[in-house]
Amino acid sequence: MTWFDWAQHETDAIHQLGRWRSPRAFDSRGPVGMLQDGREVVSFASNDYLGLSQHPAVIAAAHAALDNFGAGSGSARLIVGARTLHDQLEMELARWKHCESSVLFPTGFAANLGVFSTFADPNTLICSDELNHASIIDGCRNSKAEIRIYRHRDLQHLDELLSAADGRRCIIVSDTVFSMDGDVADTEGLVRLATAHQALLVLDEAHAVLGPDPDLSPVAHLRVGTMSKTLGALGGFVAGPRILTDLLVNRARSYIFTTAATPADTAAALAALEVVRSNEGTSLIDRLGANVRRVRSDHASPIIPILLGAEDAAIAASQQLLDRGLLVPAIRPPTVAPGTCRLRIAISALHTDSQLDDLCSALAAIEPTLDCRHT
Ligand SMILES: Cc1ncc(COP(=O)(O)O)c(C=O)c1O
Repeated sequence: MTWFDWAQHETDAIHQLGRWRSPRAFDSRGPVGMLQDGREVVSFASNDYLGLSQHPAVIAAAHAALDNFGAGSGSARLIVGARTLHDQLEMELARWKHCESSVLFPTGFAANLGVFSTFADPNTLICSDELNHASIIDGCRNSKAEIRIYRHRDLQHLDELLSAADGRRCIIVSDTVFSMDGDVADTEGLVRLATAHQALLVLDEAHAVLGPDPDLSPVAHLRVGTMSKTLGALGGFVAGPRILTDLLVNRARSYIFTTAATPADTAAALAALEVVRSNEGTSLIDRLGANVRRVRSDHASPIIPILLGAEDAAIAASQQLLDRGLLVPAIRPPTVAPGTCRLRIAISALHTDSQLDDLCSALAAIEPTLDCRHT
């Protein structure tokens, strides 16, 4: 079999499962944008929760960095790619996360790969929540540590797994806001268990715009984050005690062997962070919270899943919403487990009341049980 035959065989297999996907161009400035066929739609799919990718100060900072330093950084940080802007952003991210220091990575995905390649080896036990993000799963696998998966948010199960560590170094890793379910980890409980078992606690806070903001000072910890969502730019970071972040600089392969972030991305993230920490940021976060509550009154994160089960049902619902000018992605395997397909609604501070009401009415019109105000 040639490589072309093999690729055709694999392609056919994905098509047969009905799971073939292709990127769909969506040219937008904020939630409203244009599909390739010219249709204008309102997106409920972006993780740009505060709309900062469109903020004038963020755009101006990126422009200025381009003018002052050019487009690319030219090499890895440890060669000649390091810029003062990177140092500034690391300092501000550390302050934001109440940590001693932080380290930048090209993406949040690379940050998770870096954490586990640095702190885990075959003599480590990693306990990972069953609904953690793919980048955590891949980071754990690459490390060759023993990986034990605990039931979603089940601290008793986690305690049992940690109790069987047999003197090995342990890592607990959890999303704080789960990316496909939008529910929130019990961070106080995780801190308690990390303390009891002297485990390193790794929290992935990629979606934690509305909290929680846990006090991690009692335990050895790392806070993984991304500039690609709340900060509206691109890049990842890990914050924590300096002794741990310095080790990342010297050990993490996804930091060492990759080109440093561009000046424009770095400056954009710095400017976005300044907005987040200002009164304007507080208002945007309040607005985001109000927008979430307008759609689902008792929800604690900007990610609202509507579980539909079968793949066909999720695809049909997503298509019907699109026909009404609303872009809400259907989430299917391999992103979620078979039988748990869903619509994933991502709320932004930039959504208007009428856009949110249109979404709720459209869901109710497609099928009364889909009205997210009642699920
Ligand atoms: C929980 C979580 N961690 C990490 C990532 C990766 O972040 P990035 O998109 O910056 O690579 C994502 C996003 O896709 C995520 O949802």
